[in-house]
Amino acid sequence: MRNQLVLDRCIEKGCVYSLSPKTFEKNLRELNHSFSQIYKNTLVAYSYKTNYATSLLDIVEKLSMGHEIVSEMELNISKKIKASQNMIYFNGPIKTHASIKSVILNKGFINIDSMEDVKLIEQICSENNLIANVGIRLNFSLDDMPSRFGIDTNSDTLSIIISKLISNEKINFCGLHCHYAGRSLSDWKTITNKMIKFIQSLDKQIISGLEYVSLGGGFYGPMPNSLFTQLSSGKMPSYKDYASLIATQFKELTKKYENFNPKLIIEPGTAVVANSMKFYAAVRSVKKVNNKYIYTVDGSLFNLFGSINKPVDLPLSAIRNNTELKKNKDLNSIISGYTCIENDIISSNNKYELQVNDIIEVDCVGSYSIVMKPPFIRQMPEIVSEDNHEDLTFIKMEETVEDVLSSFAK
Ligand SMILES: Cc1ncc(COP(=O)(O)O)c(C=O)c1O
Repeated sequence: MRNQLVLDRCIEKGCVYSLSPKTFEKNLRELNHSFSQIYKNTLVAYSYKTNYATSLLDIVEKLSMGHEIVSEMELNISKKIKASQNMIYFNGPIKTHASIKSVILNKGFINIDSMEDVKLIEQICSENNLIANVGIRLNFSLDDMPSRFGIDTNSDTLSIIISKLISNEKINFCGLHCHYAGRSLSDWKTITNKMIKFIQSLDKQIISGLEYVSLGGGFYGPMPNSLFTQLSSGKMPSYKDYASLIATQFKELTKKYENFNPKLIIEPGTAVVANSMKFYAAVRSVKKVNNKYIYTVDGSLFNLFGSINKPVDLPLSAIRNNTELKKNKDLNSIISGYTCIENDIISSNNKYELQVNDIIEVDCVGSYSIVMKPPFIRQMPEIVSEDNHEDLTFIKMEETVEDVLSSFAK
């Protein structure tokens, strides 16, 4: 049985996101457990950018996990939810003076992405007599996984940055970081090997000063096989598979050195949040054009992907009276969205025979959806809790026209 309150609300409002904080928490705990069972000093730092619904961030704080941020806005979000500021890991290519100063003051950690970051940190520390905890984001110049982020490990810039950091008494050079978009186990093998090789190339003194090594995010999380097969081939990696590949090798590395027991940081977003959110939209019109049924729902590709590009077919079901409909393989139909863009087609080969006020349910929409949804044509719908079947519980209210217009000057 689906949550009847959520379905009723969808009929009333046209569409609604349904979030399960419980699923998110379970994922975080399981991922952390998988790694820390092998390498005790593991820290999960949740990636805000993937989905910063405040009830999720509260869970991250409750579990004493890290907060991975990439902008001043995300830093301010972390302050609003009263996140422990010494658990902030500040990545990203652009960091403002104010955000860097705040992270330094509160003893968080900053991962450098450019020489400009170094200069700002040096300036802020010297002007304010502060000590900064600093790491370097590394770019291993991989042909198979090119990246525009981090400092090229083959460049002179890297040696210049390292000598600047170790010679400045106001800087605690204590971390290494990387993040690649590849999610497969073979991508992770490459990333882990590159990081380990890099660490082994460093002076022993630098190695013993490392308080953390962060390997970033980019893991697959739990999902139906029908979705995974669109993303990758082979077997879907579990949290345990990632842990036994990454944490085991990392543990072996630490055994080779005295006084080397850094935090192994992983920065999941998608892996823990994707399957904790569903999107529901009601069918509002049915028509036939050129022998094809067009079912228009009060939702859009913008609700699912934040854009009109549709990278995958997300798991989709159709519901009437809280019962999943059967498919009719001979049906010629599409499910389309509320925008005026021709390509706003949620399902181009739909097999559910739909009526007005049937509901479509799209699963695994938790990552990069609500944070990317523009106010194009329709404001952001509300987010309600999937977990509470007794009372409708709001996680985010529907945006109002006032919200949408509030920052215009007139
Ligand atoms: C530095 C960093 N860490 C973590 C993440 C989270 O990655 P994902 O949500 O894809 O797992 C990202 C995503 O871009 C990132 O840039």
